[in-house]
Amino acid sequence: MCGIVGYTGHREAQPVLMEGLSRLEYRGYDSAGLATLTGKDLRLRKSVGRISELAAVLKRHPSPGHCGISHTRWATHGAATDINAHPHLGGDGDIALVHNGVIENYALLKRQLEQRGYRFRSQTDTEVIAHLIASYLKDDLVEAVQKALVHLKGTYGLAVISPRFPGMVVGARLGSPLVVGLGDNETFLASDPGALVGYSQRVVYLNDHQLCALTPQKWEVLDGESATVSATVHSLDWEPEDTDKGDYEHFMLKEIYEQPEVLERAMAGRLHAAGATAHFGGLNLDPQQLRQVERVIMTACGTSYHAALIGEYMFEQFARIPVEVEYASEFRYRNPPLEHNTVVLGITQSGETADTLAALRESKAKGLRTLALCNVVGSTIARESDGGVYLHAGPEIGVASTKAFTAQVTVLALLSLYLGRMRHMSHAAGSRIIDELRAMPDAVRATLKCHEAVKEIAAKYHHVNNMLYLGRQYLYPVALEGALKLKEISYIHAEGYPAAEMKHGPIALVDQDTPSVFLAPHGAVYDKVMSNLEEIRARGGPVIAVACENDEHIEARADDIIYVPRVPDYLQPLVVAIPLQLLAYHIALLRGCDIDMPRNLAKSVTVE
Ligand code: AGP
Repeated sequence: MCGIVGYTGHREAQPVLMEGLSRLEYRGYDSAGLATLTGKDLRLRKSVGRISELAAVLKRHPSPGHCGISHTRWATHGAATDINAHPHLGGDGDIALVHNGVIENYALLKRQLEQRGYRFRSQTDTEVIAHLIASYLKDDLVEAVQKALVHLKGTYGLAVISPRFPGMVVGARLGSPLVVGLGDNETFLASDPGALVGYSQRVVYLNDHQLCALTPQKWEVLDGESATVSATVHSLDWEPEDTDKGDYEHFMLKEIYEQPEVLERAMAGRLHAAGATAHFGGLNLDPQQLRQVERVIMTACGTSYHAALIGEYMFEQFARIPVEVEYASEFRYRNPPLEHNTVVLGITQSGETADTLAALRESKAKGLRTLALCNVVGSTIARESDGGVYLHAGPEIGVASTKAFTAQVTVLALLSLYLGRMRHMSHAAGSRIIDELRAMPDAVRATLKCHEAVKEIAAKYHHVNNMLYLGRQYLYPVALEGALKLKEISYIHAEGYPAAEMKHGPIALVDQDTPSVFLAPHGAVYDKVMSNLEEIRARGGPVIAVACENDEHIEARADDIIYVPRVPDYLQPLVVAIPLQLLAYHIALLRGCDIDMPRNLAKSVTVE
C-alpha cells in the first residue's frame, strides 16, 4: 500500500521525509517522490523504483526547505513511471499533493477539468485532486481542499502543500488512514505511525471526513465544514529501536525472536492470580454485560483469521460460548442472522485492514457490540470499536506476520480465561491456566533452539514446488498459518489442512516431490495424527514432523523432525508456530526472495 509522510518545522524536510518513507517501505510500492518548499519555491523530485533511486536523484538535485510531503506509490491507476509517481502538481504548480486511495469518479472530473483548460501530465486519478484544489485556490488552502473534496467519490488519505502558503501542510482523510505527529516547533503527517517513530511519540489520528492544517507551531483538526474538532492525543509506546533491524538480517527474523518478550508484554498486568482470572482495561463491558453474551463472531483476514480460529477453540473450551469465525471480506456482505446478544470481535494487527473495518462497521450498524484485538494504538479499528485489547507487540514491520499472531493467540487465551471464570470455570482451573500461560515465554525461548535444525530442513526442501501442512484441533489453524507463511515469502504453493481431511481428496497430491509438514506434538489427538502421517508415508510422501522432544516413536516415522517442548494442547500454537515461521524464512532466504517486502503484498491492506 502507498505511504505518506509530511513535515513542517525547524528541520530540513528532505531527511525527515526520506527516513519516514524508509520506515514505510515494508508496505510495498513501486515508485517514490517528494516535494519541498523553500519560501515560495516548490521543488519536486520523484523516481520509479525503490527509495534508493529517489535518494540517488536527491544526491544530484537536493530538495531544500523546512516543509514538504513525500510518498511511496503502489500503482492503481497508471503504470509505475516517473510521471505517475507522486507528488502531483495542480494548476501551474500552485499545489503539490500526495494521495493514498482510489478516486472512482476521476475520469469524469478529469474531462471537466480538461475542458476548463487544465493540462494533465499523468495517467493517475490523483492528479485530478491536485488540479481540483488548484481550481478553488484563493486565500485559504484548507478551504480550497475542502471544496475539492466535495466532488470526490472514493477513498483518500492525502497531504497538500502550496508555494502560496509556505510552511503549511494540509491533510484530509476518507477511508485511508492519516496520523498527525506532534513535536516542538514541528508537526508531522503520515499514513502509518511507524513513519513517525523517533520523531514523535504523541499522535492524533484523523477520522473519516476530517482535515488537518499543520504549521510548525500549530496543528488543527477540522470537520468538513471547517469547524475545529477536538482530537485525542495518543501516546505511541514504540521506541526508535523498534523500527531498526538491529543485528538481524530481516525484520521478520527479528520479530520471530522477539516473541518471548511479546508474550510477556501481552500478559503484562492482565493476569490476576488472586482471582485466578485475567482482567482488561479497555473492553468497556462489565462482567454483568459479558455474562449476557451468548455468541461471539470473530472476524479477520489472513494470519489474524488463523488466530481467530484458535480463539474459537479456546472460547468454546474454556468459556463454553459458541463462536463463529468469519473471513471479514465474506462477513461484510453475507448479512447473516445476528441475535442481539452477539459480540463481534475484530482481530487485526494493523487496525486498518479495510475488510475487517467494514465488517465491524456493518456489525455496529446492526446494533451489535464490537470489540477489537489490535496492535496499533489509536488505529481506525481500535478507535471505532466499542472496546478492545491492545497486543502491545510493538511495530510489526515484516509483511509476513509473526509476533502479532502469537500475541493475538496469547490475548485470546487471556480472554478465554476471563470469560470462563465469570461462568463455570473453577478457581483451581483458572490458577492452572495462569501458571501454564506464565510458562509460555520460556517455552518459546526453548523452541527457538530448533533454529539450526530448521535451517537444515530448509536446505533440503527449498527447491520444492508444493508443500502440505497438516494438523488437528488447535494445530489445524497453525497448519493454515504455516502454509500462509511459506506462500507469502517463498512463493511456493502450500496448503494447510485438517490432518484427517487428507483422505477426502488432497492425498491425491502426495508424491515424493510433495513434502508434508505434520504438526504432531503429544496431545489429545496425537495417535490420530500419527495414523494420518502413516497414510502419507505409505504413499511415498516425505514427512517433516514437528514433535515433542521426548517422542520415542517419531524418529522411525518421519524423514525430518523439528522438536518443540511439551505444552498444554491449547497453548501448542504458541510453540508450533515458531518452527513454521523459521522454515518459511529460511526457504525464502535460500530462494533469494525479498523476505520483508514480498512481491505483490502490502503490510496493511487498506483497500478492498
Ligand atoms: C500475514 O502474514 C499477512 N501479511 C496478511 O495475511 C495479514 O495477516 C492480513 O492482511 C491481516 O492484516 P491485519 O492483521 O493487519 O488485519
